[in-house]
Amino acid sequence: MRSRAFLSLPAGPLTASQQLRRGALLGLCLMALCPAACNNPTGPTGPTGPTGPTASAAPPATSTPATPPPATVAASPAANPPDSPTIQSEDCTAATRLTPGVPGSPGHLIPSTRNPNGQSELAALMRSMEATLKAARAQLAEPGTSRPPIGPFLPQFRRIRCSWPTNPADRDAEFDALAQGYLSAVSLLDAAPDRGSVAKAYDAVLAGCRSCHERTCGGALAAINALRLP
Ligand code: HEC
Repeated sequence: MRSRAFLSLPAGPLTASQQLRRGALLGLCLMALCPAACNNPTGPTGPTGPTGPTASAAPPATSTPATPPPATVAASPAANPPDSPTIQSEDCTAATRLTPGVPGSPGHLIPSTRNPNGQSELAALMRSMEATLKAARAQLAEPGTSRPPIGPFLPQFRRIRCSWPTNPADRDAEFDALAQGYLSAVSLLDAAPDRGSVAKAYDAVLAGCRSCHERTCGGALAAINALRLP
């Protein structure tokens, strides 16, 4: 019914609102397609051609949701954010220049069954962190009283600060501040001495995943929540 009326409306005073509505719908579709992958919303069955959905189709004023709520982490000074020496070595910071042409860099995406366009280095790291934590979660679920033999995670996860994202511009000061917060939680998990503190520290790591994803890519939140301890 509704779509028939929509289609049969003649051009006229309602055209503008039709366009607005269409823009809003497009926005919703784009969000709905996000869950599988953050930067590649168009899957194999995607409705659009090779050029993908164009931003210009949506009227900017109404289709964009209001500015996201303020972050828990304030934008850090671009230069030399305070680095805890335990979190990273000098070879992997915001200042690290990424090497063009390595697997997962722009133009050299890693073939992926998940994403027909391929995976960035950062996306591949995200998936491997997810798999690593999934295995840790299984160990944490085993009954016992001693510390489960999980980790250390920092040597693997710290690469988050120096991996190519799909869009190089996403690796900005704000991203790095969130990454550092996350890596602090990871190093506390590595250091947690007993079973109870491990479980707490594990939760804090997931909170670190979440606080970044609430700003950058909400589509992965379901995957993050699936890692919660039972
Ligand atoms: C500091 C920010 C940040 C943190 C912390 C973070 N992520 Fe991500 N995540 C991103 C960004 C940015 C992308 C998009 C990657 C790209 O550009 O290709 C992403 C992508 C993903 C994806 C989609 C990968 C794909 O196939 O496209 C998953 C799943 C994911 N993250 C899970 C996690 C999990 C689980 C954690 C915690 C263990 C985590 N993320 C921590 C920023 C973050």
